[in-house]
Amino acid sequence: MNEPRTILVSGATGTVGRHVTAGLTSRGVRVRALTRDPAAADLPAGVEAVPGSPFDPAGLEPWLDGVSGVFLMLPRFADIAAVRETVRVIARHAEHVVFLSSGAVRDGVPATGQSGAIARAHAEVEEAIRDSGIAWTFLRPYRFAANTLHWGEAIRAGAPVPVVLPHVPVTLLDERDIAAVAVHALTEDGHAGARYELTGPEPLTPVRQLAIIGEVTGRRIAWTERPAEDWIRTVLGRAATDAEVAGMRASIEDSASSVTDTITRVTGRPARTFREWVSEHTHELTGPLPELRRDDAGFVLASTWRVADPARQRAAAAAALDDWRDRPWPPGLLAHSVLLGTDGHTLLHYSQWTDSGAVEAFRRAGRTRRNDDIDAVVSGIERLTATGYRRYRSAVPDRPIEPGMVVLVSFATESAAVGARFVDALLTRHPVNTGERPPDGMGGNHFHLAVDGSRVLNYAEFTDEAAHQRVVDTRLRAGDDVPGLIAGTPGLTPLGFERFLPYGTRYGRG
Ligand SMILES: NC(=O)c1ccc[n+]([C@@H]2O[C@H](COP(=O)([O-])OP(=O)(O)OC[C@H]3O[C@@H](n4cnc5c(N)ncnc54)[C@H](OP(=O)(O)O)[C@@H]3O)[C@@H](O)[C@H]2O)c1
Repeated sequence: MNEPRTILVSGATGTVGRHVTAGLTSRGVRVRALTRDPAAADLPAGVEAVPGSPFDPAGLEPWLDGVSGVFLMLPRFADIAAVRETVRVIARHAEHVVFLSSGAVRDGVPATGQSGAIARAHAEVEEAIRDSGIAWTFLRPYRFAANTLHWGEAIRAGAPVPVVLPHVPVTLLDERDIAAVAVHALTEDGHAGARYELTGPEPLTPVRQLAIIGEVTGRRIAWTERPAEDWIRTVLGRAATDAEVAGMRASIEDSASSVTDTITRVTGRPARTFREWVSEHTHELTGPLPELRRDDAGFVLASTWRVADPARQRAAAAAALDDWRDRPWPPGLLAHSVLLGTDGHTLLHYSQWTDSGAVEAFRRAGRTRRNDDIDAVVSGIERLTATGYRRYRSAVPDRPIEPGMVVLVSFATESAAVGARFVDALLTRHPVNTGERPPDGMGGNHFHLAVDGSRVLNYAEFTDEAAHQRVVDTRLRAGDDVPGLIAGTPGLTPLGFERFLPYGTRYGRG
């Protein structure tokens, strides 16, 4: 293939297209990215973002000037006639089109005879491409791992995840692998006329997929079965006929666990596993906060940093988490979370370790270098406190919330026994144990005892600041029960509370 001139990437802000754009750019290929809103598109430096859509052939034509190859995808199945016209326009200008089709398309069956709307729409575009005379490569992916992102809402709220066909194994594709195949096809010879059936490396039931998300992020995730027909109708549209719904169900059950080696053959590296995909998407699946009640966390290190202003606060948080990308993950570190103080200056690092020995080993081996590297990115970080804890007891209401604020309430204690007695007494008064309705917007209270006996820490989750303020205003006034208990506990001194906004968590490599 002659050196590609410019590649036009449609769907460039989307799940696959974003990685096609990045992959081409990193190979030094000029990319013109098609998007309905260039101003909002967050694309790599050097990419030319142009307005348009595969549904607007006339609007797209000017952007084909000087373009040798096109990555074409179907954002929806709505206006296939427009996409057929787009194909004809592309064929007048470019030499090669790589089309993101679907594993549902069957060869030897005309578009009208394909089973289900998804297969029909993609087969129609494939036909249009073949008829146009342009060189083509069809990518026919099976299921995207990204489809599981819709579980995130339930996981983050601590609710059971509605799962379709929970025991039917399916292979799930990492979008980076689909994009890598597209990049090879767009930049090398030998891919014209190929129909690449793309799958993930191993069949996994949805129940096992949830277990893997749980293993990577330290959670036990409950699930409930969602009727398959109900889900299929949301994919195909409410107007889908019973036969179409049944057809799609059968095709999921038939083909979902097929495994091909196409990704390895084309890219030279094996398809990424679902576990690898989860490790890159923990934020979207489980949110920015850690699972406080994980059983394997025998030691918690809570430390605080102070910086000059909110911009540096965010920069320091990003640097602290991004730094792990280039560094060996310390043995025994399960999760490292960063939260931002609402004062605009403080950062809280909450890290869960298997045991204190693992922290000591990290302090000896790698901590100074890590701090130096972060200081090189953000100047003026003051490292204030670092206290070792173990989580002692938690009280979590049955009604789950998605926490948007964490409040750390601290007490000085004369000994660990004083701290434990106080927490035990407090928990007998807690709504979780009295049967009273928990305050709206209040989540878990997780009580930690400092390993040196000097502190009690309550890590309290709330939906937002207003929910915490309501608790302060209605339950923590002088004369209320809890302030009375605090005042009446010898050896205990309240140190006040600090409010934090969740920022992010990195986990061990799963
Ligand atoms: N999910 C699966 O399991 C699976 C399996 C096989 C095949 N596929 C196929 O893969 C394709 C989806 O790829 P993807 O997930 O990378 O896409 P995507 O992220 O859903 O969307 C890509 C881009 O399309 C643009 N877009 C969205 N709605 C649009 C509209 N109404 N009109 C014009 N542009 C619109 C958006 O870009 P802008 O906002 O920047 O314009 C969006 O970023 C579909 O054809 C699907 O059938 C999916």
